[in-house]
Amino acid sequence: MKNFSYQNPTKLIFGEGQLEALRNELPKYGSKLLLVYGGGSIKRNGLYDQVLAILESLSIEVFELSGVEPNPRLSSVQKGIDIAKQNSVDFILAVGGGSVLDCVKAIAVGVKYDGDVWDIISGKAKGEEALAFGSVLTLAATGSEMNNNSVITNWETQEKLGWSSLVSYPKFSILDPVYTYSVPKDQTVYGMVDIMSHVFEQYFHHVKNTPLQDRYCESLLKTVIETAPKLIENLEDYELRETILYAGTMALNKTLGMGTQGEWSSHEIEHAVSAVYDIPHGGGLAILFPNWMKHVLDENVGRFKQFAVRVFDVATEGKSDREVAIEGIERLRAFWTSIGAPSRLVDYGIDDKNLELMADKALAKGKLGNFKNLTREDILAIYRASL
Ligand code: NZQ
Ligand code: ZN
Repeated sequence: MKNFSYQNPTKLIFGEGQLEALRNELPKYGSKLLLVYGGGSIKRNGLYDQVLAILESLSIEVFELSGVEPNPRLSSVQKGIDIAKQNSVDFILAVGGGSVLDCVKAIAVGVKYDGDVWDIISGKAKGEEALAFGSVLTLAATGSEMNNNSVITNWETQEKLGWSSLVSYPKFSILDPVYTYSVPKDQTVYGMVDIMSHVFEQYFHHVKNTPLQDRYCESLLKTVIETAPKLIENLEDYELRETILYAGTMALNKTLGMGTQGEWSSHEIEHAVSAVYDIPHGGGLAILFPNWMKHVLDENVGRFKQFAVRVFDVATEGKSDREVAIEGIERLRAFWTSIGAPSRLVDYGIDDKNLELMADKALAKGKLGNFKNLTREDILAIYRASL
């Protein structure tokens, strides 16, 4: 293992009926609150009314930012900062999926920063202070509810950038599986692909002696693989929703990556596609990740063989290690296809026109990849294999 330190200050409040915990949590943070949500799903499933009733009973003054986009935009972040500043709010409550949460994280640091919040998102400045915020999560996918990451799109410059800071953890996150019943089938699938992808980004490394981390990752993957086909047929099954919601948090609250080295190139390669074409993050990952795997396989065939054998139970008899490894990647592709995930960029109407542009964006931070350092040519090869 590598040396590591780990700290996670987010209070996780999980299970049916836990929305009531707002009554204990919110009074700690003042009496003026900015409520942030997306395009209306929380109004349709009744959660908005329930949250407002609790806020009203606590005599909390509420200001609202609605319409946060999937792939949240800088313009929404700026609107939120303006509302929070003008009304001197004490706390921000995100009610929605990862996009709403990520937007709130950027608002929270932006309120406390004198310059343009894009400085922090683009890494030119550090977010050193943040307004307190919490969340009620409605979609299992990103892990944003218990991590300090945020991903924001500047639509004018077509940049989609991830950032994080020590102060951008939610104070608390409330996760009630019942509020995820209304997530449509396609978003449910994208969420599960994203969860598995977060595990992959922490599983494919060259660090020695990580037996427990490996098995945590493999069991999380096996759990999603076992649950996904049942969940897409029973979107309102409490236990299946509960399993996936918990898996989503555990996949990216950074416990899986303790003592190892994160990869994250497939995420950068996908964010570059979303920046130009505004496609769903999980859909993009389903297309790109198996092609990254094939491209980097020879850096550590043993690791891919272990994945194939332990996660997809690939038989080894009479096969070379490489054949076993490739079969594992193909089983992953087949599994994602079986639950309805896309497999080619053309599924989103994307052709080869902007591959060079996307490769440049994927390399925006200069270097990409720890498992294999990816050159521009490598990235282009992964895009071409995904057309
Ligand atoms: O906007 P509303 O109306 O709420 O609808 C949303 C949206 O259309 C809908 N939805 C959410 N909860 C629902 C629901 N519909 C019905 N019932 C519910 N209970 O689902 C759609 C997608 O929502 P979104 O929040 O965009 O999805 P997700 O949670 O997958 O977040 C995706 C964003 O997170 C970023 C992605 O790049 C993308 O921008 N990521 C953030 C990470 C992080 N902060 O750690 C890590 C990830 O790797 C990822 O990059
Ligand atoms: Zn992701």
